[in-house]
Amino acid sequence: PPSVESLQSQLASLGISDPLSVFPESNPTTNPVDVFRCYIANTLAPIGGVDGKLIYSSLEWTQSFDKGDLILAIPRLRLKGRKPDEIAEEWAKKFPENPYILPVKAAGTFLQFFFRTNLLASIVLPAILKRKAAYGPINTGNGKRIIVEFSSPNIAKPFHAGHLRSTIIGGFLANLHERCGWDVIRMNYLGDWGKQFGILSVGFNRFGSEEKLLEDPIHHLFEVYVEINRIITEEKEIEKKKAEDAGEKQTYNGPTDEEAKNFFVKMEHGVPEAVALWRRFRDLSIEKYIATYARLNIQYDVYSGESQVSKETMQKVSQLLREGGISEESDGAVIVDLTKHSKKLGKAIVQKKDGTTLYLTRDIGAAMERYDKYKFDKMIYVVASQQDLHLQQLFKIIELLGFEWGKRMVHVNFGMVLGMSSRKGTVVFLDDILADARDKMHEVMKKNDDKYSQVEDPETVADIVGRTGVIIQDMSGKRINNYNFDQERMTSFEGDTGPYLQYAHSRLSSISRKAAIPEQDLINADFTLLSEVHATNLLRCLAQYPDVLQNTLKTLEPTTIVTWLFKMTHLLSSSYDVLRVVGEEPKKAAARLALYESARQVLNNGMQLLGLTPVERM
Ligand code: ARG
Repeated sequence: PPSVESLQSQLASLGISDPLSVFPESNPTTNPVDVFRCYIANTLAPIGGVDGKLIYSSLEWTQSFDKGDLILAIPRLRLKGRKPDEIAEEWAKKFPENPYILPVKAAGTFLQFFFRTNLLASIVLPAILKRKAAYGPINTGNGKRIIVEFSSPNIAKPFHAGHLRSTIIGGFLANLHERCGWDVIRMNYLGDWGKQFGILSVGFNRFGSEEKLLEDPIHHLFEVYVEINRIITEEKEIEKKKAEDAGEKQTYNGPTDEEAKNFFVKMEHGVPEAVALWRRFRDLSIEKYIATYARLNIQYDVYSGESQVSKETMQKVSQLLREGGISEESDGAVIVDLTKHSKKLGKAIVQKKDGTTLYLTRDIGAAMERYDKYKFDKMIYVVASQQDLHLQQLFKIIELLGFEWGKRMVHVNFGMVLGMSSRKGTVVFLDDILADARDKMHEVMKKNDDKYSQVEDPETVADIVGRTGVIIQDMSGKRINNYNFDQERMTSFEGDTGPYLQYAHSRLSSISRKAAIPEQDLINADFTLLSEVHATNLLRCLAQYPDVLQNTLKTLEPTTIVTWLFKMTHLLSSSYDVLRVVGEEPKKAAARLALYESARQVLNNGMQLLGLTPVERM
């Protein structure tokens, strides 16, 4: 990033010689809006006799550009005695004429600040054009370490909507933190242990196919799992009937279930053949996962999972719980009675009667091992809100165990997806969802003959744009909201959809290609020629991007960015007719292209951050 000195000399070259005094939380060299924040806070402080820091932190964004670029709610300053609207009037009048902002407006109890767009353009556009992919993120992470745990599907079970959302949201949160200077560990915590692996192994030994396993492990294991479960259910029914006829209460689950149970016991005891088979299932599945996640631009640092929590850790967990008086016996099982702390937390079982451990217990052990290994400053669990209680119990137990780092854990939850199935019926893995989206997108593209014939590799474009549709649909609302998986809508070019964003990017790319103006000419263009409202509003919007990212670190909501990207692309759509490039006289063309190329760069940055692959032609 540029230094404060270079910013200062840049300002000097624009005729501003007063030194900019920088607030501690301010990043004027990477965030253009901070240049204005610093100026406003420093100028108002003596006028109002108020601490500049308080003003600085009270400056807020506006809902729309007609209310200014920044706004100050006088009541936020908690000044005693005088009416806020009188204060606003007085301060607006006393605010000096200056090179940063237009005369300050008092609107009720608010002060509205409008940036001088010539200055804004001279700061923002060169910053984007020079810094390119680096424009936007501010290094507020400072090398702090974060674990983002996301996706976490269960081997041999369907990849359901909860996993899809976790993958999309988690991949994005990892990117965001990484770009903002965090040391990110992307972790996939697989459901890869438990009795279901006994069931699966018995099934595989009976009718699994070595060939199919190598070819498509995910679908084959699922197939085997479904079939063996069908047999188990059947046997159970027969046994139940037998017991009823004999007038017995106790029922036997049947021979296959018995066999599966025994197999899992062997796994738990580390019997080599049992473990070896399980390990092959796991390794082959992971190999496939890696390829599919790559289609969403996701790479994991760690494939962990329930199986990876060590025996010693599990023993330590039960020992700490017992010695700390946190757990108690109940009916032969071990439980933690969390109702003592809060009714809604309920009683959590941490060990079953037969001595085996549970999902919750493994999560306690996993968290401890992660802290020992990574000493994280923050850890995010991206898990569906159906598991709210599970994570609340986990967090509470970690707190009761006295682990100070428990406060660093965050549950990022989300609502359900309704109506998600694939053409083939059940969704077995991410591949199925993406293949469907690609095919649907391909159909939509074919409807426009002219355009379709110009696309070089329609299959690939359909694949990329289809994925974009899936991702943007997921990120459009607040995480906690449920939504309908609507293929029609997500592959449409109309409305706030993935294809619309891709279209905006490819159109901007095409403008740049056609105009073919050298980059240096754009950086040095005469930005005072950008005087139309369409141009200045687009510019003001582009200036907000670094702030939007910082705000997203607080909300942890993809929609914070997605909504902003749509606002920006709507401004673009209405500008093309007004701000032409091709055929304009050269100086104006250069200034306008500098603006468009900046918009393209920021759109590209935003899309990549979301996990998308921006296309240049479609
Ligand atoms: N495998 C689990 C499931 O599919 C999700 C795991 C979530 N992460 C965790 N640490 N519990 O439901």
